[in-house]
Amino acid sequence: MGKVYVFDHPLIQHKVSLMRSKETTVKEFRELAKEISMLMGFEATRHLPLEDVEIETPICKTKTKMLKGQDIAIVPILRAGLGFVDGMLALVPNAKVGHVGLYRDPETHQPVEYYCKLPTDIENRQTFVVDPMLATGGSAIAAIDFIKQRGGKHITFMCLIASPEGIEVLQKAHPDVDIYIASKDEKLNEHAYIVPGLGDAGDRLYGTK
Ligand code: PRP
Ligand code: URA
Repeated sequence: MGKVYVFDHPLIQHKVSLMRSKETTVKEFRELAKEISMLMGFEATRHLPLEDVEIETPICKTKTKMLKGQDIAIVPILRAGLGFVDGMLALVPNAKVGHVGLYRDPETHQPVEYYCKLPTDIENRQTFVVDPMLATGGSAIAAIDFIKQRGGKHITFMCLIASPEGIEVLQKAHPDVDIYIASKDEKLNEHAYIVPGLGDAGDRLYGTK
């Protein structure tokens, strides 16, 4: 079963609280998404393998450590996952970026797919799927299904806020995937929104409400 990491770092908790507040502007919401994705990405990349390399400093030759040629892909779930891309790219600027387009049908709450474009060598990449919200889990499961259908194997899921239900179904559907979340919230409401949550992440990121 994949591990679930819930961040208790005070900076992350503080910034998530700011994102939750309905007073937070679109500009601030975007800036916070970038800052939190960098903080979370720092920890979520902890397991990337290192190798010994020899370099020469201005003083002498030395053996030191660098990332072991592990290629990385970042895959935001459109739209709201885009808010995580810049922060992750600041950490791993050579990463390739795939996109999976999904939206939730407002009646059924089931994910509807409209786009999928991934790096062609996705099977060789450590892949970070990013989306601020894990509510029913339908979108995350469908996005990871897409990636696996195209050969993806080494997948990590990162989100800001998750419901207990979403975590459970995602773990069942993709037991090989580790999940990094900034906050595990109470529950879903009757519209399948996370309570207390932060509302509609896409609308808050793009000001479309
Ligand atoms: C939101 C969010 C997730 C999804 C989570 O996207 O960004 O992708 O809902 O819900 P689920 O776990 O129940 O599937 P939304 O469908 O609102 O699309 P948008 O990003 O285009 O606004
Ligand atoms: N999608 C969102 O953007 N917010 C929720 O609370 C649930 C799904």
